[in-house]
Amino acid sequence: MSRTCLTIILAAGKGTRMKSPLPKVLHRVAGLPMVAHVVNTAIEAGSSKIALVTGHGAGEVKSALQALNLSVDDFTQDQQLGTANAAAAARAAIDEGYDDVLVVFGDTPLVMAETLKSARRELANGTDLVVMGFHAESPTGYGRLVENDGKLIAIVEEKDATDAERKIQFCNGGLMAFNGRHIGAILDAIDDTNAAKEFYLTDAVKVASKSGLRVSAIRASADEVLGVNTRVELAQVETIWQNRARKKHMLGGVSMIAPETVFFHYDTVIEEDVTLEPHIFFGPKVVVKSRANIRAFSHLEGASIGNDCEIGPFARLRPGANLGSSSKVGNFCEVKNADVAVGAKINHLTYIGDASIGENSNIGAGTITCNYDGMNKFKTTIGANAFIGSNSSLVAPVMIGDNAYIASGSVITKDVPVDAVGFGRARQDNKDGLAVALRARIKAIKLAKQKT
Ligand code: UD1
Ligand code: MG
Repeated sequence: MSRTCLTIILAAGKGTRMKSPLPKVLHRVAGLPMVAHVVNTAIEAGSSKIALVTGHGAGEVKSALQALNLSVDDFTQDQQLGTANAAAAARAAIDEGYDDVLVVFGDTPLVMAETLKSARRELANGTDLVVMGFHAESPTGYGRLVENDGKLIAIVEEKDATDAERKIQFCNGGLMAFNGRHIGAILDAIDDTNAAKEFYLTDAVKVASKSGLRVSAIRASADEVLGVNTRVELAQVETIWQNRARKKHMLGGVSMIAPETVFFHYDTVIEEDVTLEPHIFFGPKVVVKSRANIRAFSHLEGASIGNDCEIGPFARLRPGANLGSSSKVGNFCEVKNADVAVGAKINHLTYIGDASIGENSNIGAGTITCNYDGMNKFKTTIGANAFIGSNSSLVAPVMIGDNAYIASGSVITKDVPVDAVGFGRARQDNKDGLAVALRARIKAIKLAKQKT
């Protein structure tokens, strides 16, 4: 679309019902603040500029967006006098002159770019004001779309509606798209003569149709316009988001046995032919390459998983876990800030932190990299084809050479050269017959106790 587009995001509401010092729009869905979802969608819909209208916590909202590299122009609405008054706070941006002006809500994060684009297509076809409507089974609380002869003539807010109007189930989802040439004059004409004494953005419909402009409504799904006022609604929005993500990943070639038990982060990347068993949680920044198999009850964040890897069940991958192809991390293993090369195996009950493990090395059950002395972190380097016997502690900084062998139960504090065997434990000493004498002594003690 070559038309220019300004998106105004309204986010000045207090969000009292969230019961939180955090501004409402910074509460997260799939790990991303709600308002950032809206900004991303606006960008995807082709916005040339985004104006964010905040009241409470303006600085906090701005820095959260900056941290995500999302740039917006911010405007402040000093008093919450209604949605039209909030949109008018971005008047300086409007006056820069855009072909299309979209007005969306910061607490309504599920709006889809496709819907914004279809509103913009309506504008391109000559409509001056497009309202996003939806069908509500129970419309209480929403503005009702009043149509006459198939034409939208007004939006009536719940508080101002007649009994007949309250029965209308076609509701206002909140999003509006304006012809940029008219929005300024429309906002100027809106007053606060209504039950709430607020400047309603929805009155734009009445104003526009009175002045002979073309007004229409498009239909969206009720899911898309679900606004968040409480943590209950936040969880509902999260559920809808997760269901969309599950569907997207399955259509992208990911198999899931129980998709409803797998939780994605907004930035999770999964390639084709990956299998996800039930109950997996993805935190931020996880990339899973082709054909990897992630087994049940695994928790992953900041990890990169190579082709054909086998992860879990019950694996914990923390930030910086970088797994080469065909490597394995098995049950009750934790891997953090470690490069694990192609074909290496960490199969059972192990902690690998601040380490690098060479190709095809085998890390025995219960191996621990002792990376922290209470003040500093140190690195463990293990070469290729090494074998670390079970229940070994590798006290970093330490290096284990290629093809080296570590005896089970070792505490390794010195480097182990290439092809060497490292023993880090006392040698075993057997005393013949001593068990007989030991048993006799224990029995005698027991008898003496019974007599007293
Ligand atoms: C609004 C619509 C209603 C629609 C519903 C959909 C109006 C007048 N009503 O009602 O028709 O069915 O959304 O969810 O638009 N805000 C400000 N400044 C203000 C007032 C609001 O920034 O002075 C922001 C809020 O932070 C919020 C958004 O605008 O993000 C919507 O405001 P809200 O009070 O939730 O409007 P509703 O009563 O839900
Ligand atoms: Mg609302």
